[in-house]
Amino acid sequence: MKNETPKDLIGQTVTVLAHLSDPHLPLPTGIPPLALLNKRLLGLLSWHSRRYRLHRPETLDKLVADLLDRTPDHIMVTGDLTNLGLDVEYRRARAWLDSLGGPERVTVIPGNHEALVSGAWEQGAAHWQPYWQGDAAAETDVVHSFPTLRRRGGIALIALSSAIASPPGLAVGALGRAQIDRLVPILRQTRQENLFRVLLIHHPPIDGTVRHRKRLRDGADLRALLEREGIELVLHGHSHKSHHQVLQTRDGPAPVIGVPSASAMHLESAAYHLYEITPTNHGWKIALTVRRLGAADHMETSQSITLGIDRAHAMPEAARKTPKISPHSV
Ligand SMILES: [Fe+2]
Repeated sequence: MKNETPKDLIGQTVTVLAHLSDPHLPLPTGIPPLALLNKRLLGLLSWHSRRYRLHRPETLDKLVADLLDRTPDHIMVTGDLTNLGLDVEYRRARAWLDSLGGPERVTVIPGNHEALVSGAWEQGAAHWQPYWQGDAAAETDVVHSFPTLRRRGGIALIALSSAIASPPGLAVGALGRAQIDRLVPILRQTRQENLFRVLLIHHPPIDGTVRHRKRLRDGADLRALLEREGIELVLHGHSHKSHHQVLQTRDGPAPVIGVPSASAMHLESAAYHLYEITPTNHGWKIALTVRRLGAADHMETSQSITLGIDRAHAMPEAARKTPKISPHSV
């Protein structure tokens, strides 16, 4: 593992990606009452009645210390850093992002809590812009900036925004037709470049992963596109639980993996995922390590698996055959 700027890694070197999600950083006190005349009031009540006990800064600190010790090449944060999407939360979350590493090494996308009320994400996004903008600097407003594309060595980090405001009681997400359409040329271009395409999204893209009130409304449209254009790995958060699913694509099966909250010991203990991605003669190999806060309050490896991501378009001519995920995978 390395912590210097990633190099051109195709065909030779391992790239290590770390994925964490839903840290829900502590809500500050002294929120102006005027900021609460909307869905935020329910969010505030939820935080003080229950959520502040579930999402603990000391848990997050342990997890982040363990993650940084492993010096991943890149860190991906898939949303819900805030609770109410307040400006003060965005600013505090920016300081937390800075503590993970510079924007070259850290990518963030928004979750539904960043867009708890209408306009919250559009206003708050500027605080995090170096961490979400693509390699081609955003020339439009935040809504039209997604999907973003960051190339890191042999990896394409493709980030979506599913953050939308929804009525009280709902935590749905949506991409919208325009964002899904903008994804097409990005997937095609990065496939042509033989990059390992990682798609980042807050909401799980497969129906039934979370309850109806938390679903991705246009998941079917996204899945249809990914099946048609291919993808190598899809990562999400939102449910605060682990998920390991598979999406069939034109190029072969692609893992769809969800990570628990990085700060909660509720539903599942806090965890993050490490992905060691190595080019092979058949495409790529992923070594996934789940690092979790264990019962003894220490970080431990709770799972290690290896996935073979065979991709005919990425193989040397002589080695091409039917794409598949290796038998020991998924
Ligand atoms: Fe969420």
